[in-house]
Amino acid sequence: MTDTVKLNAADKDLDLKVLHGSVGPDVIDIRKLYAQTGMFTYDPGFTSTASCDSAITYIDGDEGVLLHRGYPIGQLAEQSSFMEVCHLLLNGELPTKDELDKFTYTISRHTMLHEQLATFYRGFRRDAHPMAIMCGVVGALSAFYQDSADITDPQQRMIASHRLIAKMPTIAAMAYKYSIGQPFMHPKNELSYTGNFLRMTFGVPAEEYVVDPVIEKAMDRIFILHADHEQNASTSTVRLAGSSGANPFACIAAGIACLWGPAHGGANEAALNMLREIGTVDRIPEYIARAKDKNDPFRLMGFGHRVYKNYDPRATVMQQTVREVFAAMKVSDPVFDVALKLEEMALSDPYFIEKKLFPNVDFYSGVILSAIGFPTTMFTALFALARTVGWVAQWNEMIADPEQKIGRPRQLYTGPTQRDYVPLDARS
Ligand code: CMC
Repeated sequence: MTDTVKLNAADKDLDLKVLHGSVGPDVIDIRKLYAQTGMFTYDPGFTSTASCDSAITYIDGDEGVLLHRGYPIGQLAEQSSFMEVCHLLLNGELPTKDELDKFTYTISRHTMLHEQLATFYRGFRRDAHPMAIMCGVVGALSAFYQDSADITDPQQRMIASHRLIAKMPTIAAMAYKYSIGQPFMHPKNELSYTGNFLRMTFGVPAEEYVVDPVIEKAMDRIFILHADHEQNASTSTVRLAGSSGANPFACIAAGIACLWGPAHGGANEAALNMLREIGTVDRIPEYIARAKDKNDPFRLMGFGHRVYKNYDPRATVMQQTVREVFAAMKVSDPVFDVALKLEEMALSDPYFIEKKLFPNVDFYSGVILSAIGFPTTMFTALFALARTVGWVAQWNEMIADPEQKIGRPRQLYTGPTQRDYVPLDARS
């Protein structure tokens, strides 16, 4: 095991320390590089940079491995529940039966929103994107829950974390209800976390809502699959926002804003829109040709991943869940046929094989969510709901880290060098 690597830079021989994790690539500690050489490293997109150490989630992109606190995502998705996974991510261990009951009870006690927040929704246009509402409402939580915004107090941090996990389903469901003009549904805490969310989304006060166990299970699994994904763009955004000492609600709002983009959380919405645009199986070759054309910016949405270069282990579970949901609901949707055929054709195409482009979790999640009845605009909001536990777990880990510093990347400056100000009437 190497403990140092040698670097010759600026005419100096340096021994840089190598840090070892419990599993996965070692990292070269370059913290003193600038002080010793006057040079920075250059890594746009941070593809070769570890921004922190973390004990929460491990990914091996080449092998298609995703572990939460050591447990493989496939086992968690098959055998556990979202509440168990929340406990695991937040507290480090799977809960005992008593711990799970207590955790579930605690979360259920924070599901309601301050009533004043309902009026906040009415300030949005009815056609506002749910993610626009989520950014606003989650950010606004800091104005309502100031008693849990002291980040130096671990107890307040935990209360804020519980509040965020508990209130996200209520916030997301209200964003949906507002967009379709139906009354907001208050949470019903005798239901499961996921059942409660389904009722708040699809129930109406005029009728009793009966939770379908197949949909509840599928939805819970989707939440598990999206719960955390180590230092992705939105999680890094949450950490960066949190590194300045910002309150947790503001940090999660920042994460939601980042997640919204089509290269990240917006991909499932973009993938389903693409499948709808393709429309019929006979048009697939045209779209595959466009994806391969260097002069066409079009990409097959739901294909490829920055980290997974063989397969996305979340996609494997999701592929199975799609089939279960369609069989149980006895629904047929041409989009499903297009998705299956596109998957088959892309996976046998040399371009996709050579570039290691496989369907990612978003390729399938959009198809399931649409079958359940969610409009495409809600997809990313659901991702945000599920990812909140990952964000708060990572944020807590960072705040408790004694080595934590404000995040401050450097740059390679390529603009003009110093020049003198030219008065307006002397400029040509
Ligand atoms: N369709 C067609 N070509 C693609 C695609 C695609 N979906 N993805 C990558 N490529 C090509 C790309 O054109 C490039 O080709 P070349 O080497 O000839 O220039 C090569 O593959 C490598 O692409 P890259 O952009 O350097 O790869 P990356 O690792 O930086 O990008 C990605 C990863 C996810 C942004 C990209 O694959 C993509 O845009 N996919 C579609 C959007 C999507 O599904 N995003 C969801 C990611 S999963 C959700 C999450 O975890 O947040």
